[in-house]
Amino acid sequence: MRDPPTASGIPRVLASPVERKHDKLPLLARLGVCWTVLRTQLGPLTLANPVMSASGTFGAGLEGRAFADLSGLGALVSKTVTVVPWHGNPPQRIVETPAGMLNSIGLENRGADYFLRETLPAMRAIGPPVIVNIGGESVDDFVALAERFSAAGVDALEVNLSCPNVQGGRLLFSTDPKMTEVAMRRVKEAATVPVFAKLSPNVTDITEIARAAEAGGADGITAINTLIGMAVDWRRGRAVLGRTIGGLSGPAIRPVALRMVHQVRQAVRLPILGCGGIASAEDALQFLAAGADAVQVGTASFVDPARMTRIVDDMRHLLEDAGTTVRQLIGAVSATGRTPGREAPQP
Ligand code: FUM
Repeated sequence: MRDPPTASGIPRVLASPVERKHDKLPLLARLGVCWTVLRTQLGPLTLANPVMSASGTFGAGLEGRAFADLSGLGALVSKTVTVVPWHGNPPQRIVETPAGMLNSIGLENRGADYFLRETLPAMRAIGPPVIVNIGGESVDDFVALAERFSAAGVDALEVNLSCPNVQGGRLLFSTDPKMTEVAMRRVKEAATVPVFAKLSPNVTDITEIARAAEAGGADGITAINTLIGMAVDWRRGRAVLGRTIGGLSGPAIRPVALRMVHQVRQAVRLPILGCGGIASAEDALQFLAAGADAVQVGTASFVDPARMTRIVDDMRHLLEDAGTTVRQLIGAVSATGRTPGREAPQP
């Protein structure tokens, strides 16, 4: 059953299908249950719950405030910020695909000065910890941004090593383990806050890159960015996207992302932010069981900007019904021994 429309005429999201038995508890007791069940740890950073925005899909959260109370999210992750403003790629920049979408935005943003002056204070005022995603054309760009955003006191940084829509799609930083290690080492030297490396799925072996990020000193891994794809308008004999290729996201890539989170979990000891096609609490819980310590919701927010807040609520109810917590669930798949090529131990 749908809730009545809001005064602005924007329909509310569907009511949670999960029974809300704990909603009858007094407020303080509810907060306590919520904290215990959903809390997660990303190195030194404690999050009230593991649900956050995926970079580039929710801006800085400022527009999202019109659709949902974002104060209950685990964290907010910004769109990539670069040293100076970037104009991005020529249109067409987005194409809908079966179970997903292709994008080729090209990291359009107003640059670090504007972000620090105008965006960051407003983003902080929303409430959850703020993770700033940084991008650039050189390691020096990443270093300069790490220094400035650390000084500004952001909660963590996410280093975008893996945008497929710049540098001609060459993915300079995330396909070569040496480049990954060097970039992360230099960023870590410059940063005073935890630093996550956002990795590309467009590699033969993501574990090699994850290990390189760990060797460089990364505090965590975000897995995964988009898969490189393409759409064609055969009548006009040309590619649909202005830059020909783009990044595929959405439910279509979820099994790939899950597999990679699982593999990265086996390879490194770092916290993992799982990302790729998550659209429901059920999806998010699969990522935690596969080894993620938290999850990022991206393409689903285009369909429903209140989806992340609903995932937090639904996740709590599903975990309570199953009698478990986020911390107990993380990595459960590995704990059963069901890693690739190995049968689970017989009872
Ligand atoms: O084109 C873009 O802005 C996408 C960025 C990314 O996938 O990291």
